[in-house]
Amino acid sequence: MIRYLHTDPWRIIQKGFNPKHQRSSESIFSIGNGRFGQRANHEESYSGETLQGSYVAGVYYPDKTRVGWWKNGYPEYFAKVLNSTNWIGIRVWVDGAELDLASCQLIDFYRELDMRRGLLTRRFSAIIGDGKQVDVEAMRFCSMSRDAQAAIRYSVTPVNFSGVVRFESCLDGDVRNHDANYDERFWAPVDQWAEASSGGVVTRTRKTEFELAVAMTHTLNRESVWEAFTSQARAACATEVRVPNGHSAVLHKYVGIVSSLHAPAAQAGEEAIRESLAARDTGFEAMREEHEARWASIWSTVDIRIDGDPEAQQAIRFNIFQLNQTYTGEDARLNIGPKGFTGEKYGGSTYWDTEAYCLPFYMSTKPQQVARQLLIYRYQHLQQAIENARKLGFTGGAALYPMVTMNGEECHNEWEITFEEIHRNGAIAYAIWNYIRYTGDHRYLCEFGLDVLIGIARFWSQRVNYSEPRKGYVILGVTGPNEYENNVNNNWYTNYIATWCLKWCIEALDYVKTHDPKAFAEKALRYELNEEEERTRWMDIISRMYFPVLEGTDVFLQQDGFMDKEQLTAADLDPLERPINQHWSWDRILRSVFIKQADVLQGLYFFEDDFSAAQLKANFDFYEPRTVHESSLSPCVHAILAARLGYEEKAYEMYMRTSRLDLDDYNHEAHEGLHITSMAGTWMAVVQGFGGMRVQDNQLLFSPMLPARWEAYQFRVLFRGQVYTVFVDRTGHRVEVGS
Ligand code: BGC
Repeated sequence: MIRYLHTDPWRIIQKGFNPKHQRSSESIFSIGNGRFGQRANHEESYSGETLQGSYVAGVYYPDKTRVGWWKNGYPEYFAKVLNSTNWIGIRVWVDGAELDLASCQLIDFYRELDMRRGLLTRRFSAIIGDGKQVDVEAMRFCSMSRDAQAAIRYSVTPVNFSGVVRFESCLDGDVRNHDANYDERFWAPVDQWAEASSGGVVTRTRKTEFELAVAMTHTLNRESVWEAFTSQARAACATEVRVPNGHSAVLHKYVGIVSSLHAPAAQAGEEAIRESLAARDTGFEAMREEHEARWASIWSTVDIRIDGDPEAQQAIRFNIFQLNQTYTGEDARLNIGPKGFTGEKYGGSTYWDTEAYCLPFYMSTKPQQVARQLLIYRYQHLQQAIENARKLGFTGGAALYPMVTMNGEECHNEWEITFEEIHRNGAIAYAIWNYIRYTGDHRYLCEFGLDVLIGIARFWSQRVNYSEPRKGYVILGVTGPNEYENNVNNNWYTNYIATWCLKWCIEALDYVKTHDPKAFAEKALRYELNEEEERTRWMDIISRMYFPVLEGTDVFLQQDGFMDKEQLTAADLDPLERPINQHWSWDRILRSVFIKQADVLQGLYFFEDDFSAAQLKANFDFYEPRTVHESSLSPCVHAILAARLGYEEKAYEMYMRTSRLDLDDYNHEAHEGLHITSMAGTWMAVVQGFGGMRVQDNQLLFSPMLPARWEAYQFRVLFRGQVYTVFVDRTGHRVEVGS
C-alpha cells in the first residue's frame, strides 16, 4: 500500500510534490469525457519521470505481434490505444528561465481533482532562476457537455519581482507510445498550421488510417503580440508580457479534438478549428459552468453517499467518477478498456471485464439503451469470433470471442491466454442473460442475442471431449480466471460456465421459437442450425459434464490436481514478497497454491441461485485465504460474497481494497494507469454486496447490511424505468421509488 493522497469526500488531494509519485498521480488525476482523455501530465515542461498520455476513444494501431517463439494461431497484431497529439503543453519562461518542476525549487504544491465538478487544478509556488518566485495556478477539464472540446486556464503571478512571462502553447503530434513492440511510430504527420494565437495539427495512424485533428486557440488577459510557428506535426503559439509584481498573466487555451470516427477525414481539421473557436467564443467560465452542470446531473443519478467513513466515501466517488468519464454510452462503437484513458497497458482494448464487471454498473445507472449497446458491440463482432474459432480449428459456425479486441479480431498473443482462457466466451453469454434478467428486454434474444448464443454453444460443444475413465465430458488445457495457473484440466469455473451456456442457449432457442417463429426460422437458416442433432449433443454434455470436487466436502476444486499443491495461505507469505507477481519467478507462481483472482468464487458469484449457502460458505472459506487478489477484478467479487455470508469485516476489508486499489496503490502499479473496469466491481461491492441487491422474478430485492464503520449509506439504481433510492442506517433501511 502506498498512501500519499489526502482524504476528502469529493476531492482527491495531493499536497507537496514528490517526483517519485508523479507517474502514479498522472494516472490518478486523469480526466476525460468518454471521447478522449488525458493523464495528469504537467502543462509546462517537465524533465522528470513522466508518462505522457493523451488518448482518443476508438483510435488504435495494430502493433505487429512480438513473441519469443511464434505459435500457429497467434494474431498478427496487438491493437493499441494510441498516445495521441499532446494538447496540454504550455511552456513557461520567467525572465528567460524555463519553468520545470523537476529542476526549480518548489515552495508549495497542491493538486486537486474535484470529482463533483470534473476539474483538475494545480497550484504551486516556484523559485526560478535567481530567487524569483512565481505563483502558478493551472486548471483544466475535458468538457462533458461538448465532447470535442477541452480548456485550460494557466496563470502565472510574480510575487517578489516584476518581470517578463513568456508562454509557448503547443500541440505536439510527434508522439510515441511507451509500449511499442518494434519502437515504430504509429502516427504519420498530415498537416500543421499556426497563425497568431491559433494553430492545429492533423496526424494519421499508420495502417488503420484514423485521422486525428487537434486545434487550439488562446486568449491572454493582457495586451500582447502573438507569434506562431510550426514544424512537422507540431504547432505552437507564443507570446510574452511584462507582469508587475503581484499581478497575473492568465492564459486560456481552448482545444478542439476531432477524429475521423466523428467527422469525414478530410473535414476533421476544419471541425477541430470550429470546435476550438466555439470553445473560445463561449469562454472558459461559461464552458466550465456547462461542464459542471453536466457533472451535477450525472451525480444526481449515480452518487453513492457513505456517512461516517470519509475514506470509503472518497473512494466510491473516485470509482464512479472514473467510470463516467471513460464511457458515456453515447457511441456504440466504443467500449471500456481496463485502463480507460489513464495509461497504455492492456492496449485500451475490450476484455471480458466489460461483460463480467462493467455491464451491471451501466445497466443500473444509465438508460437501458447503454447496456444494450454494450451487448450489440459483441453481436457486431460475431463473424470475427466465428473466424477466430475457425483459425483455431473449430467448425460449423462455432464462435470464440477474443480475449482482447478493438474490432472483433483477437489481438492477444500469449498461448496460455489466447488459446486457453476460453472462459471469456461464457461471460459474453452470461451478460445477455444478466441484461435480460435485469431489464426484461426479451426482444433482445430474438433480435441479436440468440445468434451469439448459438455460436458460443457450438464452440463449447466442440471444445469438450468425452473421457472414458471419467465417464463424463472434460475440458482440457485451459486457463481459468486465475491466471496464476495455465494449461490445467477441468477448471471448475470453465466447465460450469460451458455447461451453463449450453443450457442457456437451449432456453433461448425455445424462447425465440415460441415468441418469434419468423426470427427463429431466419436464424436457423442463416446459421444452418441442425436443431435436433445440436440440441441432443448439448443435452448430452449438460448431463454428463465432469466437475472436480474435494471429496467429502462442498468444495469445488479449481482444477484437477489442485490438492497436490503445497497448501499454504496468503497469510503465510512474507509481506515483503507481495505482490508475488513482482517478486517471484513465473514458474514459482504457477506451482504455488496462490490464486490471482476469484475463480471458483467467480462462478459462485455469477450463479449464486444454483448453490446453497453451505456450498458458498465452504468454498469461500477455502479459497479466500488462498487468494492474493493480484488482479484488480478480484476483491470486489470476494466483497460481495463475504457480505452475502455475513462476514462483515471481510466484506469491508475487500471493499476498501477494491475501492482504494489505485488511490492507495495496493498492487504497486498505479503508475501504469488506473483499473477502470474493476471500478465497476467496486460499485457492485456496495450495491450488490452491502446493499444486497438482487433481481428475482422481475423484481429488485435488497437485503442491506451496514458495515460497523459506516453510520449510513445511500445509493440509487434505475430499474425498468423507475429510480429506486436505498437508504441504510443504524435504524434499518428503506427504499424510495421515484426520482
Ligand atoms: C486479469 C484478467 C483481466 C485483465 C484485464 C488481468 O490481470 O487476470 O481477468 O481481463 O487483467 O483487466
